[in-house]
Amino acid sequence: MSALLLLTCSLLATAPSPRFPQGTARMEVGEAPHGLPDWSVSRCEGCHAEQVESWRHSGHATARTDDVFQVAITEDRPGWCVQCHAPLARNLERGALPPNSPPEEHGVTCAGCHAPLGAAAGTPGMPCAGCHQFGFPVFDGRGRLQRLSDTQWQQDTAGEWRRWRASTGDTRQCADCHMPRGDHAMGGTRRSEALKAALVVEPSASALRISTREVGHGFPSGDVMRWVSVEVADDALFESARTVATFGRRLALRAWPPETLIHLGAVEDTRLKPGEKRVVAIPGNARYARVVYHLVAREQEDSGLYPEGLSRLVLWAEPLPPRTATLERKP
Ligand code: HEC
Ligand code: HEC
Ligand code: HEC
Ligand code: HEC
Ligand code: HEC
Repeated sequence: MSALLLLTCSLLATAPSPRFPQGTARMEVGEAPHGLPDWSVSRCEGCHAEQVESWRHSGHATARTDDVFQVAITEDRPGWCVQCHAPLARNLERGALPPNSPPEEHGVTCAGCHAPLGAAAGTPGMPCAGCHQFGFPVFDGRGRLQRLSDTQWQQDTAGEWRRWRASTGDTRQCADCHMPRGDHAMGGTRRSEALKAALVVEPSASALRISTREVGHGFPSGDVMRWVSVEVADDALFESARTVATFGRRLALRAWPPETLIHLGAVEDTRLKPGEKRVVAIPGNARYARVVYHLVAREQEDSGLYPEGLSRLVLWAEPLPPRTATLERKP
């Protein structure tokens, strides 16, 4: 009985709502705050200059014009994608926006998180879940989007966060970590520095011990296309790089009962869990090791559409300690 109730609650909490239908339709923003005629960013600036300025530097502000997203929608149906990356956009087409397009066309604006203000806004700090938790799209035989899966997650960040909270008792919300002092920039658009700071690598001669610090969900979290590789090489430029481990999700296109149409889902998840320490063995002849964060899936990378500098962030790289010394020095 209580298990059933819990299940129903968790489905309700993540299912698309009319307020934010997760890209499947246009967002209903409801009444603008403080009796303003609409939600456009230009109306907020005069009174909330600090939030508007820091938000301008966030990945949210440019989630649609973002270079990686622009490449991604050339090979996908843009309507669903754009209605989440720029929930108030009117133009759902691919390609460059006309000059002087308003901020609402470029990315996630204030309404994406603040509509509706007041009592209906839900748990404090949790407007994040509408976009950072959603199921794989389910298409019919003719390729029309029917619904989003409610068992197989394309992004599971809110679910990972809930499990982290349940297992650690930590009560921090998304905004407590990502918006210190109300900062709306969230570390800026390419968070290499923040990602580097979150990764802990302890090298020894024969292994790397890899874990994360202060992360309240999996690593990498976010979209299924994100993954991390551990690579070794004989040369400092990694021209002879070999991959010895990957942290990510492996996908399969198949049936996921009770859903009747086949669709994508994750059949394996090797990402780092918060608190986990992963030991990756290093082959004997390797002299250098590095950890690389991949913004897009391996097939997307191999397609050649994404220049390497755009889709890969090197988070850690070092020469390995020599192997022999420890063996010889016995007490
Ligand atoms: C004329 C000045 C003014 C304008 C314009 C304005 N605000 Fe505000 N806003 C305020 C003041 C003053 C407060 C603090 C008092 C309060 O809570 O109502 C506030 C509070 C807020 C809060 C916090 C409220 C809460 O429930 O915690 C948010 C969010 C907000 N405004 C969003 C916006 C957005 C989005 C816009 C533009 C669409 C906007 N405001 C435009 C003056 C303004
Ligand atoms: C990605 C989601 C998101 C977006 C986009 C966003 N906000 Fe916020 N905003 C929040 C959250 C969450 C809080 C509460 C922060 C906290 O708990 O410290 C907040 C707080 C605020 C507050 C209250 C500040 C305070 O110190 O209490 C104002 C005002 C505000 N936002 C205005 C805006 C305006 C204006 C925009 C558009 C330029 C905007 N926000 C865009 C998520 C967002
Ligand atoms: C309307 C949808 C939407 C909402 C609501 C939303 N996000 Fe996002 N968020 C996105 C998209 C899309 C991106 C990808 C932006 C990019 O990198 O191009 C993103 C990226 C991020 C990133 C990665 C850093 C970056 O700027 O690229 C963080 C962290 C993040 N969001 C946190 C939050 C938090 C915390 C909240 C709730 C307070 C929130 N988001 C609410 C859509 C949303
Ligand atoms: C205990 C702190 C903490 C909490 C709570 C937390 N995060 Fe994070 N998150 C991090 C850190 C640290 C990183 C890695 C550095 C970075 O990207 O900012 C990260 C990374 C991310 C990223 C980048 C994608 C990636 O590869 O990891 C997104 C998106 C994100 N968080 C969203 C969220 C959302 C949404 C919530 C709430 C459901 C949340 N986070 C809760 C600390 C936290
Ligand atoms: C329900 C909301 C939602 C929908 C629908 C959606 N996305 Fe996203 N997308 C996000 C969020 C949230 C992030 C940030 C998470 C992260 O950092 O991994 C993101 C990140 C991305 C990124 C990474 C951007 C960067 O700069 O690294 C790409 C590319 C992307 N999405 C492409 C797409 C495409 C293509 C589609 C349509 C097939 C799509 N998205 C549909 C919410 C959505």
